[in-house]
Amino acid sequence: MNAVNRVVATPEEMHRLGREVAAVLRAGDVVVLTGDLGAGKTTLARGLGAGLSVIGAVTSPTFVIARTHPRADHLAPLVHVDAYRLSDPRELDDLDIDFAGSIVVVEWGKDMVEPLAPQRLEIDIDRRRGERAGTLATSGVSADAGSQSEMDSDAEPRVVTIRSVGERWTGVTW
Ligand SMILES: Nc1ncnc2c1ncn2[C@@H]1O[C@H](COP(=O)(O)OP(=O)(O)OP(=O)(O)O)[C@@H](O)[C@H]1O
Ligand SMILES: [Mg+2]
Repeated sequence: MNAVNRVVATPEEMHRLGREVAAVLRAGDVVVLTGDLGAGKTTLARGLGAGLSVIGAVTSPTFVIARTHPRADHLAPLVHVDAYRLSDPRELDDLDIDFAGSIVVVEWGKDMVEPLAPQRLEIDIDRRRGERAGTLATSGVSADAGSQSEMDSDAEPRVVTIRSVGERWTGVTW
């Protein structure tokens, strides 16, 4: 297991982080997104969709639990799951998602996907620690945080922890 922290200052940066993560994803990969309501999980999932060139918009799957987004290049589709209303891993299993043939991103997936995905990327988005982000010396995307935040009144820093579980991620760095 290997973990890194990144300060993500704006929704645009969160989207960009999604694109960055997408660049290493392939069929069989699972990404678990954790964070409070409005933390930025769907914003990151949109970036994943953009990075994978999915057809159509990745939106918050409010009325469906899982949505499959095909890709322009016909590579493994992105399956976007919102596990918020699921209460048991068996309910996720019942969705019959093609884990091997897809890239699966699960919002609220903690304590839900582990039995189905022993190897996974766990991305935690924290807005409380993020409020003190200015005092955190964290590397990466925060470099131009100041100017971006001023341009986007909606923006509020998040601290994102990317944790990789399993051999699959050996050699992948962020
Ligand atoms: N640094 C940031 N990163 C991501 N989103 C941010 C940031 N700052 C502000 N925001 C805003 O926070 C909101 C995040 O919404 P989003 O739908 O991505 O969250 P979510 O975690 O998927 O919520 P839910 O739990 O309802 O599914 C957006 O309105 C976005 O503009
Ligand atoms: Mg969401």
